[in-house]
Amino acid sequence: MSIKTTTWTAFAIAAMLTSPVRTQAQEEGDNISREIFIYCPDDRAGLHAAYLDFEGNWQEIGQLCASDYGQWGAEKRMYHPNMVRASDGTWRAVWQLNDHTPCFAAAYSPDLITWRPQDYPRMTTKNCLRPIVFEGDDGTFDIFYASGDEKRYVNASKDFRTFTEDTPSTISDLAWGGDTVLIGGKRHGGQIFDVTQGELISLLAHHEILRRDGDMSAERMGDDTERYKDLKKATATLTVRPGEKKAISDKLIGIFFEDISYAADGGLYAELIQNRDFEYSSRDRKEWSATTAWQSSQPIQIETSDPLSANNPHYAVLESEPISNEGWDGIIDSDPGQCFAFSFFVRNIDCAKKKWLVQLVKNGEVLAQSKLTTQGAGWKKYETVLDTRLPKQRAKITGQDCVLRLVPLKKGKVAVDMVSLFPQETFHGRKNGLRKDLAQVIADLQPKFVRFPGGCMSHGQGLDNIYHWNHTVGPLEERKPDFNIWNYHQTRGLGFYEYFQFCEDIGAEPLPVLAAGVPCQNSAADKDGYGGQQGGIPMADMPAYCEEILNMIEWANGDPATSRWAKMRADAGHPAPFGLKYVGIGNEDIISTVFEERYGMICKAIKEKYPDIIVCGTVGPFHNPSADYIEGWDYAKKHRDIIDMVDEHYYESTGWFINHQDYYDDYDRTAPKVYLGEYAASTSAKRSNVETALSEAIHLCNVERNGDVVAMTSYAPLLAKDKHHNWNPDLIYFSNTEVRTTPSYETQRLFSVYSGDRYVTSQVTADEWIGHRIVASMVEDSKTGRRYLKVVNALPVELTLHLDGLSLPQGTSYEGFSGQPGDQQVTCGKGTTPEGDLTLPPYTLRVYDLGN
Ligand code: AHR
Repeated sequence: MSIKTTTWTAFAIAAMLTSPVRTQAQEEGDNISREIFIYCPDDRAGLHAAYLDFEGNWQEIGQLCASDYGQWGAEKRMYHPNMVRASDGTWRAVWQLNDHTPCFAAAYSPDLITWRPQDYPRMTTKNCLRPIVFEGDDGTFDIFYASGDEKRYVNASKDFRTFTEDTPSTISDLAWGGDTVLIGGKRHGGQIFDVTQGELISLLAHHEILRRDGDMSAERMGDDTERYKDLKKATATLTVRPGEKKAISDKLIGIFFEDISYAADGGLYAELIQNRDFEYSSRDRKEWSATTAWQSSQPIQIETSDPLSANNPHYAVLESEPISNEGWDGIIDSDPGQCFAFSFFVRNIDCAKKKWLVQLVKNGEVLAQSKLTTQGAGWKKYETVLDTRLPKQRAKITGQDCVLRLVPLKKGKVAVDMVSLFPQETFHGRKNGLRKDLAQVIADLQPKFVRFPGGCMSHGQGLDNIYHWNHTVGPLEERKPDFNIWNYHQTRGLGFYEYFQFCEDIGAEPLPVLAAGVPCQNSAADKDGYGGQQGGIPMADMPAYCEEILNMIEWANGDPATSRWAKMRADAGHPAPFGLKYVGIGNEDIISTVFEERYGMICKAIKEKYPDIIVCGTVGPFHNPSADYIEGWDYAKKHRDIIDMVDEHYYESTGWFINHQDYYDDYDRTAPKVYLGEYAASTSAKRSNVETALSEAIHLCNVERNGDVVAMTSYAPLLAKDKHHNWNPDLIYFSNTEVRTTPSYETQRLFSVYSGDRYVTSQVTADEWIGHRIVASMVEDSKTGRRYLKVVNALPVELTLHLDGLSLPQGTSYEGFSGQPGDQQVTCGKGTTPEGDLTLPPYTLRVYDLGN
């Protein structure tokens, strides 16, 4: 070879990057052997590769894959990776995860570029140390590992998906070999393999593409002063072909509701008492107990015998000492000047009758009070109203420090549970309803669907925390509270009935998402030390789990005269079916073998019984080219008979959204549809601002253009309560008294309010360096004939947009916002156009209502 490798390789890579077919360099490279070294630089760095250059130095290539086992923080580690190249050229890897887990990691790659999601086969031993893998003569794989003083053996199938039970082994220590090389001055242990020059080029080219993609995704509007310092004004042409239209989804904008950051309990769910059922515990949060949020001058006695419900076993025993509840950062009405509905359950223990004062108290002053008498045997519900409508009280009730005080007036022990205080006015006047102001801001988005109850909350923190819809319906005292994966408590007061009712109230389709028989892959270890998906719901229990999901559909849509589930719905106050059309199965799960077995079973069960239900599957937590995305899509395409749509998730930088405008352009139009169920753009500020909102608007223009393949989208997360953020950015921030929308909210609202079901072909032409910052989309609503043109100017200068194929009469109305990239608040304004070209101020989103 006369040319130096680095130059030669760079040339070959450049050719590959620009050519869709195998290059001559690759073809020729098939006959040249090269060495690569596979290693793990440290336990959190994942599997890396380096190659030996022609000067005899090892050069880093990049990360091949990372460990996906268990909790973020404590786990996701890789120790002692070991690989084998199978006789067909494909690769198998195993590694140790920690020193206390009954599994190791098993990974498969056809080419070291794409990786199938990892499996963590369960072993009988408590730990699985330093696993090694060899290919057997029959094409299966022999895996050995150490556990204490013992060595164990496991056989893995050719496809590396089925693993036998481990047995003792007498394999020699010499089997644990390895190589050491120097990379960048540091010595690493690993393994050297021979590959062809062509394979090495492909690997290098792949990493070069990733690097370039990373560079593009780093573009920030915050750097525009430098990037566009020579740009004084921008001009572009929008060419519209009004006759060229295609049908697109009429449900593109919906919402994703999850009880994260106190979105439900303490948030949208209007209950004002915190820990009303005395069910808080250290499972919710280390320092919590059954008396959290309650105060008394004496220790509060908590009992569990003869409870109100087995699902709600704890209650307080009171005698003469008052107790107070602090609510959620104080008891406070977001809509001052109304009455509060109080209720509680009481069982007299050693007295026939008891008198009570129920008070709303601020700094010792009673603002409202009501008297009650409880009497008789057994648990009974008592209700009263606290009236705070007197002007004197109204003024005082705006602070953060109101508490609810229960004052038992006579001696004698009583059991108290389910202490509740609601504003009498809730959204749409629903009992057990939603906070009016917050629900209204959501309703103003005019979402076409609501996904609930999560997110990670759907699949839960470990098998025991999977969200079971049937634990969330029926009388409140019978519902089964649980800890919330986001480190607080779920009362389930906002349960499936309330979610469906909210959907009906705002005219949105319900989209319940239920776990695919596995908990969150980031779950902590169970009592046996098995973390992540914990092996999934045992297969023997899966038929019952499938039945539970079918019962949900029956509950929502069935006939109360023939179905006991539908009768529950009718008994709760909704005899008419809810008309459920969509069911989501799985939430950004790792698409492991354990997952696929259960997922397929559930989707099949739904389709067999309810062929008209649209089943939405999942393709992991990241976009292309992540392992879960590739495997999830592959699975969905092979199982089109049971999967109609898949849920994609990606939280990305603004630069990623700006530079991936063709993301959906090449999607297979015959494949299952896309539900972009979770996405948001972010900058280092981790708050929605004009930059994120415009990047999302750019993405939504591209989604509209691909509205024949993307059926639904929902920004995530929706809500976050001040001082309780689990996640940032969010669409709407709130406190007890305030609701603050964000620039991203305005983007969602504008795309939702001005939506259509036909896409009209249009194209922006501009100089290359500014073209990706000027984006437009035109849609038509076939029912009304109205057409809407959305234009994003994500440049720091005014944009003049010439129109070709479209003329806007003077006075055409528009709505939109402008600002500086870092602005976290915008005001959406309305206006009308002058005659001629469109002009848009810097950093602007506008929607023009073109009428019909
Ligand atoms: O939207 C917040 C979280 O992000 C969701 O619970 C989860 O699905 C994703 O990781």
